[in-house]
Amino acid sequence: MPDTTQTKPTEKRGKILFQLLEGSKRFFIASVLLGWLSSLLELVSPQLISFIVDSVLGEKVPSLPAPLAGLLARLGGTEALRQKLYIPAVAVVVLALFACAARWAFRMMNAHGQESMLRHTRRKLYLHILRLPLSWHHQNRTGDIIQRCTNDVETIRSFLSDQLITLIRTALQIILALYFMIGISPRLSIVTAVFIPITILFSLFFHKRIQKSFRVVDEKEGVLSAVAQENLTGVRVVRAFGRESFERERFEKTNEEYTGMWDHLMKLLSAFWASGDVLSGLQRMLILFIGASFCIAGQMTVGQFIAFISYSAMLEWPVRQLGRVISGMSRAGVSIDRIAYILGSEEEAEADIPQGPDMTGDIVFSHVTFGYGEEGDVLKDVSFTAKAGKVTGILGSTGSGKSTLMYLLCRLYDLKDGQGQITVGGHDLAKMDRAYVRSHIGIVQQEPFLFNRTIGENISIGAEGADGSLIREVSGIAQLEETIGNMTQGYDTLVGERGVSLSGGQKQRAAIAQTLILQRPILLMDDSLSAVDTRTDARIRKELAAMPNKPTRILISHRVTTLMDADEIVVLDKGRVVEKGTHQALYAQGGMYRKICDLQSPEGIGGGEA
Ligand SMILES: Nc1ncnc2c1ncn2[C@@H]1O[C@H](COP(=O)(O)OP(=O)(O)OP(=O)(O)O)[C@@H](O)[C@H]1O
Ligand SMILES: [Mg+2]
Repeated sequence: MPDTTQTKPTEKRGKILFQLLEGSKRFFIASVLLGWLSSLLELVSPQLISFIVDSVLGEKVPSLPAPLAGLLARLGGTEALRQKLYIPAVAVVVLALFACAARWAFRMMNAHGQESMLRHTRRKLYLHILRLPLSWHHQNRTGDIIQRCTNDVETIRSFLSDQLITLIRTALQIILALYFMIGISPRLSIVTAVFIPITILFSLFFHKRIQKSFRVVDEKEGVLSAVAQENLTGVRVVRAFGRESFERERFEKTNEEYTGMWDHLMKLLSAFWASGDVLSGLQRMLILFIGASFCIAGQMTVGQFIAFISYSAMLEWPVRQLGRVISGMSRAGVSIDRIAYILGSEEEAEADIPQGPDMTGDIVFSHVTFGYGEEGDVLKDVSFTAKAGKVTGILGSTGSGKSTLMYLLCRLYDLKDGQGQITVGGHDLAKMDRAYVRSHIGIVQQEPFLFNRTIGENISIGAEGADGSLIREVSGIAQLEETIGNMTQGYDTLVGERGVSLSGGQKQRAAIAQTLILQRPILLMDDSLSAVDTRTDARIRKELAAMPNKPTRILISHRVTTLMDADEIVVLDKGRVVEKGTHQALYAQGGMYRKICDLQSPEGIGGGEA
């Protein structure tokens, strides 16, 4: 697994975030502005209440800012207001309604922003991943890729829609509230100003530990579900080897550890909430005590006191949240780096013209040398020709590079300069468009993969709209007709997850039919007859040979009988071509091929009568 957690400079992270925000920026900007508006409206309300309390109920009428004083005069002054109490009441309600509307619009914009960002990011990642070369997919674990596309995207979403916006909004809330509070009583504001950093630091301290604990719980949960999943999917092996009690103990131990971690986390959370409450209580008590004494001493009106308490209460929650928000933000940086790794991986370059030459000619491998990575070359100076419309057999022990040859032919991997050349009908494969090459080659993979659909649907999966007669025809060639005929629902029989309800040989034959239906000019069969008996194997090959517009066929096998009818057999050993020729010639030669023949059939396969 490549190292992808290297910290990137903030500027680079910002750039990536900007890319992910394509199409959703305006929603987030609107939500920030609306958030500010709703905070502002909420913060004006205590001012109004303070004025009402003092001017309507109190003895002392506070001095008002010019516009409000003008408004009051037009309404008939304090005395008139005392007669029409509904006016201030309605004003408070109207203000609350505006604040409510602003909050609603804030949430709407925020939700739109999140959805749009998620949709865009998922799409961007998925399309990019689909275009990444196979070598990249082999280097990176599927689970990890999926996690980056789900968990990391989710972390970024919560960073943008929750943490960042809360931070921006709370900062303004604190500044404005403090401004109003200082306007009421600078001395009492000192209490709040002292408690704000203490509360933030306190919550930051706890949340760092809580987050760490959450991560451990997450990891333990991952282990627990991996143990459960392994046991459920491998239930056959567990039963067959009588490992139930061992596996049960393993599960119980992991379960126990997981529960223990939750316990620890809950204790931490309880301690945080309880001690946070004490801190808030202390602050409230101090403000009440000092504020009340100011009121008694006539340094503050009752209305101002109420407004001050309202501001202090308004700030309590946002400030307590800040620790969680700030400590969670560091995770977003890591997630951005992990997504940047995917987006920064280079896609397969495509040729300018997505067309190419005729693919029915000879396939020529000349001096092909290839390796997957640091471990050295898997293929060494391989040269051979697969004649157009003929059968070329490739025989070789396990790991000798047979499948690698096929991957190169499909351009799942690319040959670099100096690694030799592959041509089809004299045209260099490297210069053709990859999609074009792949759309002319039918490959039956070594490990067939069937989807949890009906057998008919599985066969026609690559050929959308294929009619029933074509499906039956290819099934006939693949010797599947009888098998399917014996199934209760015929072609409509479901095959289960990964084709679990089919035997190994049935799966292989379904995979052959799946490829044949594509009617491609080149047909590669990578050990695709290994799980069928020799008679069925021979019948399938015979049917293939009888096909009209015979494709150029390359058959890979460990079994000599599968290959002995081929027009040419290439024998691979540790990545090198050691022998080439027809069965008779190679048998007569008495080399490696002959040795394999003798090993597989001690009575002798024979050199002449094949
Ligand atoms: N994706 C990969 N990354 C690194 N090495 C690989 C990869 N795929 C195959 N190899 C290595 O390349 C060598 C040839 O593998 P290949 O699959 O071509 O053999 P094969 O002849 O098809 O074997 P088998 O008969 O078992 O299918 C092996 O040593 C294998 O370990
Ligand atoms: Mg192979």
